[in-house]
Parts: sequence; C-alpha cells; structure tokens
Amino acid sequence: MIEIKNLYKSYNGNPVLNNMNLTINRNEILVILGRSGVGKSVLLKHIIGIEQPDSGSVFINNVNITTLKAPKIYEVVQNMGMLFQNAALFDSMNIEQNTGFYLSHNKDPLTKKFLTKEEKKERVVSALKMVDLENDLKKMPSDLSGGMKKRAALARMIAYRPDILLYDEPTTGLDPITSQHINELIVKIQNELRGTSIIVTHDIHSAWFIADRLALHRDGRIAFIDTPNNFIEIDDPEIAYLKKSLTCYPRGRTEGEKNV
Ligand SMILES: Nc1ncnc2c1ncn2[C@@H]1O[C@H](COP(=O)(O)OP(=O)(O)O)[C@@H](O)[C@H]1O
Ligand SMILES: [Mg+2]
Repeated sequence: MIEIKNLYKSYNGNPVLNNMNLTINRNEILVILGRSGVGKSVLLKHIIGIEQPDSGSVFINNVNITTLKAPKIYEVVQNMGMLFQNAALFDSMNIEQNTGFYLSHNKDPLTKKFLTKEEKKERVVSALKMVDLENDLKKMPSDLSGGMKKRAALARMIAYRPDILLYDEPTTGLDPITSQHINELIVKIQNELRGTSIIVTHDIHSAWFIADRLALHRDGRIAFIDTPNNFIEIDDPEIAYLKKSLTCYPRGRTEGEKNV
C-alpha cells in the first residue's frame, strides 16, 4: 500500500503539491488525471523517491521513504519501476541490452539475488515477447518508432518484475491504435505481475479503459477519487468536459441523429 500524507512541494514559491493526501491500495490500477503542468510527473517522482518534498510523507508498505537516506531508500524503491514520459531508453544500447539493464545492475526484487546470464536472457526475451518486440533484439532505439520505444521501455520495466509500477503519460503522442495497444499491455502486465499500478495521464480514453479507480489532480491536491462509473458522474466542470469527450457521438449528437 502507498500512503501520501500532507505532501507539500513548491518550486520558486509556487506550490505544486499542496498538502496532498492519497492512498493507493495494493493490487489496484489507479489512474490520476490532470491537465498539463498540474504536477503529475512531480507526484510520481516523489513516490519513487527521486524528488524530496518540502514537508509531508510518502509511505511505501508502511515505510516513510521521505526520511530515508541512501542506501536505505534503494532497498524500498528497488521494488518499483517507472515508465518515463519520454521512454528514456539508453541510446547507445540495443533493445536487448536496454531491456536487461536493471537486471544487470540490480538484484532480483523477489529473490534478492543477481540472475544468471541464462535467467537474464530468458526474462528479457519473455518481456520482449509480451510487447511484440522479440524479433527486434538487436535494433537500436534510433531505429524504433515512438510506439515501439514505449513498448521497449515497458519491456525493460516488466523484465525487472517490480511490485509497484509507475507510468508517466504512457500514451501521450501515440496514434489511437498504438495507444490502445499500450492500454491493453498495462492491464495485461498488472494481471501478470499482480502488483500495484499508478498511471498519470491527461488521456481520458486511456484512463477510462485502464482504471480500477480514477483520481483528478488539481491545485496540488487530489480533488476527487472514485470508481470510473462514479467518477464520471461527479458534478464538476472539468469532469463534465472529460465525460463529453468520452461520448461516442460527435458534438453531443445522439444515436439516430444524422451527421449533417
Ligand atoms: N525541478 C523543477 N524545478 C522547477 N520547477 C519544476 C521542477 N519540476 C517541475 N516543476 C514545475 O512544476 C510544475 C508541474 O510540473 P509537472 O509535474 O511536470 O506537470 P505535469 O502534470 O504536466 O506532469 C510545472 O510548473 C513545472 O514547471
Ligand atoms: Mg508530466
């Protein structure tokens, strides 16, 4: 379980996280929606411990990581994986090397042992199979399309088998079909690893497909959090816009009305 308590962070006097509170349950897929610049990436960076708050706490399985220093903090966050917004592949490594990177440098989060060469290869290939890149092992990141890069970055995260998976805008900048492929992969990965997934996005279609619960990040706080069906009915102008963009018919036309 992840508990965020009164988390406060400001940059140049502007509070980005303004006493935020949020509890994320084990085994759920929580999608956090929010407009660009509200602080979604900043929130994820606090959860994985690469940003320090001004005040407040982040508890990961009852351990407050905000008071931990290296190397203690690494013990807690080694159970986490993050898909960065720009995929963040290593340009000088091929897809196979990228996918095996964490496994080469870290012990397995479950067994606390380094994998053998053979075990590593098996993990890497099975992760790449899951994202349909098993025939692209030797390609370099510069040879890949945007969607393939995201899938390769996903494979790198899956190969490591973290318990907590953080996704920063996994579908931003992708075409709708590739986006849906990524959405389905996120759900498949969750079912396979049985971890906890947190996705931040401004893509309501993606959120609607993936989420067990939906949250809205606004003014440095979680303004609302609920199951998708309840969330979308909340009486709020921003949620009304999100709902409108989910309807099947253009410009609010109803079934039977002709497109004229
Ligand atoms: N390291 C930083 N230094 C200064 N300002 C930052 C830093 N990181 C984020 N910010 C600011 O915090 C705000 C929220 O950023 P971000 O979390 O990236 O938004 P988004 O919701 O689009 O992911 C932005 O105004 C951004 O400029
Ligand atoms: Mg962001």
